Amino acid sequence: MKILAIETSCDETGISIIDATGSVETGDMKFTVLADTLASQAELHNEYGGVYPTLAKREHIKALPLLLAQALKVANLTDLSAVESIDAIAVTHGPGLEPALWTGVTFAQELAKKWSVPLVPVNHMEGHIFSSLMHKVHDTKYEITNITYPAIALLISGGHTDLVLIKKPFDYEYLGGTLDDAVGEAFDKCARMLGLGYPGGPIIGQLAQEMRDKLEATPSLTIETGKVLPRPMLHSKDSNFSFSGLKTAVLYKVRELHRVYGDNLPQDIIKHVAMEFEDAAAEVLAKKVVDALETHNAQNLIIGGGVSASVYINKVIAERVMASTNDAKIHIPKQGMAGDNGLMIALAGYCRAERNEYVHDLSNLRAHGTLRLCQRRKLHTHG
Ligand code: KG4
Ligand code: ZN
Repeated sequence: MKILAIETSCDETGISIIDATGSVETGDMKFTVLADTLASQAELHNEYGGVYPTLAKREHIKALPLLLAQALKVANLTDLSAVESIDAIAVTHGPGLEPALWTGVTFAQELAKKWSVPLVPVNHMEGHIFSSLMHKVHDTKYEITNITYPAIALLISGGHTDLVLIKKPFDYEYLGGTLDDAVGEAFDKCARMLGLGYPGGPIIGQLAQEMRDKLEATPSLTIETGKVLPRPMLHSKDSNFSFSGLKTAVLYKVRELHRVYGDNLPQDIIKHVAMEFEDAAAEVLAKKVVDALETHNAQNLIIGGGVSASVYINKVIAERVMASTNDAKIHIPKQGMAGDNGLMIALAGYCRAERNEYVHDLSNLRAHGTLRLCQRRKLHTHG
């Protein structure tokens, strides 16, 4: 089945075309990437220190027709031959920024009508799960890794920090998540406080690693930045997180450092604070993941979402899992597949199309900014 997929939930516009066979249920899903296009707006949002929704919407509207033309060209299709060969269109309908989501939904509706092909809505977070499970066979040919269930997914992005139990393919249960800021959002805000621009994750990660390397090379070096950052909810006996307290602690620390050093903080101070922040975030994520794996005796861990591009966070989680009683296999996205992209929507879209989950009436499809992947775990009441 050939699927064309559209992603516009945040600040990346993606259009991809895949040809897929098999299914996740039978463990034999394979696919060929026919086209994979992406346009990032990150630079434009840089000056706002975060994604500015009306700007995102405008940019998606500009990028969509260009990416469509590019994707069809790469896949050796014309507008006419696409009508013959594309079996379905998949589109992210949530969660994300609603004005941004709507641009993709509207574009997909129009295309599905024009080509007379069915439309399948995709949950962006399910896309991130699939993104972490794809592995290359050769060239443009890939497989979805066949895993055992239950599995645990840690979904970490600009809008989410969710721990999800996957009981069997497509059967999700929400174990917990952030009670306030998402971890990616905390990375972005921390970067902003340090004057590092948007998106914050990659730059914080890079500077933090430079400081770790420096401290390792010069063990006698000590850099004083004040109070140790907190590890919010580290010992709460649930799968929830909180990052707003950590963010506020960074804010106070940075304010205090400005009082000492003036407007321009020394590079080593910035790098040290970046490292402290990443250490704190990694520690809470790793602890809750290990607990969830043990509680549910899961043999597979999927880490997905933009923050799963963090080599350090993935490393800390892997070390903690190895040191625990659970020896789960860890699945992380291959390079360039952690952030938002059209390919992950094509994968989830194919699976949903296979299950016949098309929209019946094209015009009924809506964007849902707060769309959920799954319900909360039921609380058992006694007595
Ligand atoms: O999944 P994504 O591309 O978009 C959303 O769905 O939100 O995630 C974006 C988030 C941003 O907060 C960005 O700072 C963070 O992922 N991120 C990282 C890294 N690369 C991107 N966070 C930590 N380390 C990274 N290397
Ligand atoms: Zn995302």
